[in-house]
Amino acid sequence: MLILAIETSCDETAAALFRSEPSSGSGEIVAEKIASQIETHAPFGGVVPEIASREHLAALPAMVDAVLDEADFRWDDLDAIAVTAGPGLMGALLVGVSFAKAAGIAYGIPVIPIHHMEGHLLAPGLSGALPEFPFITLLVSGGHTMLVRVNGIGCYEVVGQTLDDAAGECFDKSARLLGLPYPGGPEISRMAMDGDPRRFKLPRPLLNRDNLNFSFSGLKTAVMYAVREAGEMDKQTRCDMAAGIEGAIAEVLIRKSIKACEMHHAPRLVIAGGVAANLCLREMLMDLALQSEIRVYMPELKHCTDNAAMIAYAALQRIQAGLSYPDDWDVNPRWSLAV
Ligand code: KG4
Ligand code: ZN
Repeated sequence: MLILAIETSCDETAAALFRSEPSSGSGEIVAEKIASQIETHAPFGGVVPEIASREHLAALPAMVDAVLDEADFRWDDLDAIAVTAGPGLMGALLVGVSFAKAAGIAYGIPVIPIHHMEGHLLAPGLSGALPEFPFITLLVSGGHTMLVRVNGIGCYEVVGQTLDDAAGECFDKSARLLGLPYPGGPEISRMAMDGDPRRFKLPRPLLNRDNLNFSFSGLKTAVMYAVREAGEMDKQTRCDMAAGIEGAIAEVLIRKSIKACEMHHAPRLVIAGGVAANLCLREMLMDLALQSEIRVYMPELKHCTDNAAMIAYAALQRIQAGLSYPDDWDVNPRWSLAV
């Protein structure tokens, strides 16, 4: 089976071709491309929705052709087109979905709507097998922070989530306070490498509460006060603060994830989404895996942030599981993951 996948939910235009053997839940990426719009949005300090849509429109058709050409396939060879139908920016999603639906009609290929976060959640399967069900996934991106109990393909129970900002958003907003460009996560991570995480005492919100929810807006406010108090900041001070922010976010994410595994008797933890690319977080998780019974699964770095291979993989899993989708589906910018 050959699947073409398209992802345009935010500021990355991506296309991938994924091939699997019939009745096999695994397969291989035959070709994939990602065009980031970061440089276009950076001067605005965040993603500008109208610009994102226009950039997707300019990049997508040639990218799909390039992916097919590179792998020496034609439209007629495709068995399905998988496309991100939500959640995300309405205009950006519409570009990918309209393109996919038009191609589906023109070439008589079924078009499968995929939930962007389901793509993230299953992404570790791209580089190995998925863990046995049930498992816990920590989904951490720019717009979402949640703990999901995965009972099977398409059976997602949200057992904890952020009450305000997402972890990626906290990285991005804190970076802005430090005068660093968008997106803030990778910038903070880079500076943190030369910083002392103990110098600034930042809060670990909701850490000792008996539930699995997160809250990051208080941490962002604490960073704002720390920046104000520090006044003119030299490079070392900024590095120390970056290390403090990264350490606080990582500790909360990991401690809550452990709690989720314990509460749900599921010692298998997946971490996915853009923030899963954070090296400090990944190292702390490796330590966790060595020191506890919990087995940790994470996607390769390039499949943590937005990509189309994860959308193809999620479509394949849904096909294998015999899951269907409504005939009259449309984009859904606020599509909920829980069913
Ligand atoms: O999953 P993603 O690519 O897009 C969304 O679906 O939102 O996640 C983007 C988020 C941004 O907030 C970005 O700052 C964060 O992931 N991020 C990171 C790192 N790389 C990306 N955060 C911390 N450390 C990183 N290395
Ligand atoms: Zn994403």
